[in-house]
Amino acid sequence: MKLTLSCSLAAAALFTAAGAAAAPTWITIGERAHAVLLKAAPAARTLASREVAVTVPVQRGAAALKAATETVHAVEIDEEMLPTLSFAVHRELRKCGGFARHESMAEALATLQRIDGAPASLLAPSYAIDNQALVNTLMPQLQASNILSTIQQLSNFQNRRYNSTHGVNASNWLFAQWQALNPGNRRDIQVRQITHSWAQKSVEFTIYGTGNAGETVILGAHLDSIASGPVETMRAPGADDDASGVAGLTEVIRVLMASNYVPKRNIRFIAYAAEEVGLWGSQAIAAQQASRRDLVVGVMQLDMTAFQGDSTDIWIYTDYTNAAQNAFVANLVGAYLPTYSVGYDACGYGCSDHASWHNKGFITSFPFEASDATYNFQIHTTNDTIATFGGTANHALKFTRLALAWLVELGSDGAPAAQAAPAAKPEQPIKAAKPATRAAAAR
Ligand code: BES
Ligand code: ZN
Repeated sequence: MKLTLSCSLAAAALFTAAGAAAAPTWITIGERAHAVLLKAAPAARTLASREVAVTVPVQRGAAALKAATETVHAVEIDEEMLPTLSFAVHRELRKCGGFARHESMAEALATLQRIDGAPASLLAPSYAIDNQALVNTLMPQLQASNILSTIQQLSNFQNRRYNSTHGVNASNWLFAQWQALNPGNRRDIQVRQITHSWAQKSVEFTIYGTGNAGETVILGAHLDSIASGPVETMRAPGADDDASGVAGLTEVIRVLMASNYVPKRNIRFIAYAAEEVGLWGSQAIAAQQASRRDLVVGVMQLDMTAFQGDSTDIWIYTDYTNAAQNAFVANLVGAYLPTYSVGYDACGYGCSDHASWHNKGFITSFPFEASDATYNFQIHTTNDTIATFGGTANHALKFTRLALAWLVELGSDGAPAAQAAPAAKPEQPIKAAKPATRAAAAR
């Protein structure tokens, strides 16, 4: 097979229609999805495999964690097989089973080696909870009705596929929504679309902090949706997966803008394009940031927040995420949302965009709607609708609150100001500050 960089999707489709070979591309893929791949795409070629170290709960739900391994594979596959693979994984596994696409074979092989590597030259930020006055003012302003309205409007697109006209329109619509939330009189705000090598653009909203270290906190969700059927006519409302996450980001932006919040660190919201076909948008964006790893102090992904699958409110996924930041997230629930219960589970390699960051050594967390056994099984079908999760955004609101607390706690710090002048903060810390050490950043 030829090992050139893939040509455009349109060209690949033409070649396929004419019966010729499509463009090769490269993925890293977890063990559950790899088993599906062997059946769904027998022509795919496994290039290398590795036992990757992961952290998982001792049993589903438990806070106690243990070390485990997962076999991850680097595979060469026709690019046009990726949507098929994505769909087959969900049909056959009824479980999350992910993969990430890479720009070259070398990049896929390099990723395989560093998936479980220590975060390179990362200093864990302070995880002290010390912005109660601000968080407690902002949090009650978040409204489930606004979240629901955004989910509804995103679901109204026929689909939000990365290569359909609807997927492009959905990106443009979100861009306009986020632009409208920019009050216009602030010079510290930038809203933009990020152009990729496929049609759908990612959307980004940044509030630049007053600290001068360029440190950034990133809250993400994915914009695209998927189901089976032809690109243009497939019906993929993706209400839970992942209009819920994008709607949460939108509501946090609204509240931060309405109260004129000025962070110390940069705060960035990203609606990633093309997650469902192998984390393409987040791969591209994380790759651009990889040479300045030190500047991104934390990443959180909201992907599926609306369907309550069991009595536990917030599930924290422990694999391919950062243990120290996950502990901080759980502490935030205890401090700000003490009525919510927390459970722990693992979802396997590459199940959402946080994996793109984790693979490159960034600190990530992934709070999720349910366990890996009880999540919304209607995702990736025409039935991923608001009705399926009960017609309210009450569950999604919990994650939106948590994300706001996380953003404001991390965003209100910032080297060097936060470390230089802790006494300037009016609030008393309620949890002892963890020292900023490299050890604390180890996963
Ligand atoms: N929202 C899902 C991720 C998910 C599903 C997490 C179920 C936990 C439980 C995401 O959009 C998705 O479908 N991911 C794919 C992988 C992707 C790279 C094709 C998956 O998990 O199969
Ligand atoms: Zn999703």
